[in-house]
Amino acid sequence: MTDVSPLFKPFRIRGLELKNRIVMAPMTRSRSPGGFPTEENIGYYARRAAADVGLILSEGTLTRRKGAADDANIPLFWGEQALAGWQRIIDAVHAAGGKMGPQIWHQGMSRKPNSGHFPDAPSDGPSGLTLKGKKIAEEPSEAEVLDMAQAYADAARDAKQLGFDCIELHGAHAYLIDEFFWERTNQRTDRFGGSIERRAEFAAETIRRCRAVVGDLPIIIRISQWKSVDYAAKVAQTPEELERWVGVLAAAGVDAIHCSQRRILEAEFPSVDGPKGLNFAGWVKKLSGLPTISVGSVGLSSEFTGAFRGEGSAAGKLDEAIERLDRGEFDLVAVGRALLQDPEWAFKVQQRRFEELRDYDANALQTYY
Ligand SMILES: Cc1cc2nc3c(=O)[nH]c(=O)nc-3n(C[C@H](O)[C@H](O)[C@H](O)COP(=O)(O)O)c2cc1C
Repeated sequence: MTDVSPLFKPFRIRGLELKNRIVMAPMTRSRSPGGFPTEENIGYYARRAAADVGLILSEGTLTRRKGAADDANIPLFWGEQALAGWQRIIDAVHAAGGKMGPQIWHQGMSRKPNSGHFPDAPSDGPSGLTLKGKKIAEEPSEAEVLDMAQAYADAARDAKQLGFDCIELHGAHAYLIDEFFWERTNQRTDRFGGSIERRAEFAAETIRRCRAVVGDLPIIIRISQWKSVDYAAKVAQTPEELERWVGVLAAAGVDAIHCSQRRILEAEFPSVDGPKGLNFAGWVKKLSGLPTISVGSVGLSSEFTGAFRGEGSAAGKLDEAIERLDRGEFDLVAVGRALLQDPEWAFKVQQRRFEELRDYDANALQTYY
């Protein structure tokens, strides 16, 4: 019988006390017409807070850069109307006993041109390169790059003012921050390009600017080796490179690293420590000394990109992920689709009502509860 108790031990990130180790993974739902959170968004998050999720990370929500996204239903994290909506969300989450941070997002060159809230705005990227490495725009000046970093910090400042419990910077999946990390999209020759340390400098600049405005509020950054256009891509080919990469983030003052993987049980460097070796979050924790969040197919049998092709996923075992958590390989476990489908997932796991955990339904993206 699965021992779920390691999932329900408290944890602390900087000054933030979490009642358990379950994190709701950030999931874009495109349910905020014009970029403004609605009544149904409030209920969606509050239901998960009420059912024992330790920390909710919001869907990606946008910085003030006008070319930040390609879908006008993604919520903004700036301007009076959008922030008033977020105020109601965090108040409702707190009233339900939850903790929450917004995931601050800018799609960079992943954005489809001429789309989103401001179709005429240009897209931002480190070098004007598409994810395939094709040059379609001029490289932005250093002043423009610094404004891109400041835009995350402006959102972080507002998050603190609204009473959120932490912030997460979306530095994964080939979006803007990750495009600086990745050699294919970053060909700069100034302090933001070149070695892995220099490619991490945009994230470091962003973290420092956030810290200057949030004080003690925990700052999390989400990173991934894999890219939306290349699952086999690796920013860090070796543990040594990974150490240099995350070392820059740690030195900039980030409090935790959320390590995005598609399958939590997959070894990051199997040639180093074998097929059952440390996963991405395990390596990042070991090399950075920081708390890490792991993620990927927890409680399900197949990975998440199938969800966008209309695929379901059978409910799966939790044992090995919990054993790894218990061994201290990583500190927190993020759950995506299982919580998208069932707001009470964490509560049911805590109560060991395993027979009530449902398969992930191919139509779940169409529902919003
Ligand atoms: C519908 C959907 C939307 C997502 N949107 C985001 C997002 O906005 N930001 C992000 O970092 N990851 C996003 N992801 C990835 C999830 O955060 C998570 O890493 C992934 O679903 C794997 O977890 P799971 O296997 O438990 O679903 C999304 C995933 C899904 C299914």
